[in-house]
Amino acid sequence: MGKDVIIALDFENKEKALGFLDNFTGRKPFVKIGMELFYAEGPQIVKDIKARGHKIFLDLKLHDIPNTVKKAMAVLSSLDVDMCNLHAAGTIDMMKAALEGLTRADGSRPILLAVTQLTSTSEERMQRELLINETIENTVVKYAQNAKEAGLDGVVCSPLEAPLVKEGCGSQFMTVTPGIRFADGDVGDQVRITTPDKAKQMGTDYIVVGRPITAAEDPVAAYERCVKEFND
Ligand code: C5P
Repeated sequence: MGKDVIIALDFENKEKALGFLDNFTGRKPFVKIGMELFYAEGPQIVKDIKARGHKIFLDLKLHDIPNTVKKAMAVLSSLDVDMCNLHAAGTIDMMKAALEGLTRADGSRPILLAVTQLTSTSEERMQRELLINETIENTVVKYAQNAKEAGLDGVVCSPLEAPLVKEGCGSQFMTVTPGIRFADGDVGDQVRITTPDKAKQMGTDYIVVGRPITAAEDPVAAYERCVKEFND
């Protein structure tokens, strides 16, 4: 399991996504394909980007009955992605079914992560609307423990929660964290943010970075800066 920077390819179509990747002539960054690009272009976009030599995190956050998730995961696995995810709120049974669907005939499978509580969900709304009478931290750690019990590899969470997850699930349990900004950069709509350097100090395994790279004047330089801050 290597520490790495994953670029969020939040583009509306294939032309824009591939045009952006054309900037990278030397290295092949790990990229994240989310709902917007996948729903616009279908599975072919995964194949096209894979064919260019990139590792892919397919961020579709599945959440349905176990049998449906199992079958959907088998389809995603056949696309040869490197990482995919689901909502831990689907329960341990759903997560186990997902793993079964994801595992290929030869026993190999993509990394499977669980989304705990979205970073856009406040503690107040979680309590008032979802009737979860706990702190957000306790909920995140419990969902991470459920994911671990189901056999998953890790969770997507805020970098600020990564130490708690490692404490509750062990250092080998992976944390993949969005909400990253350069110290001198735009915050945008993100709230609970850290720098690549701080995320490294908090022990996260992968950082997911979108606009600080995709909207930069020189995306390759921004990516290199991110890798350097996160790895050094
Ligand atoms: O542009 P930015 O760096 O904010 O992009 C972060 C990426 O991580 C986006 O693709 C966003 O959907 C995703 N994400 C997030 N917070 C979560 C889960 C996913 O920002 N809790």
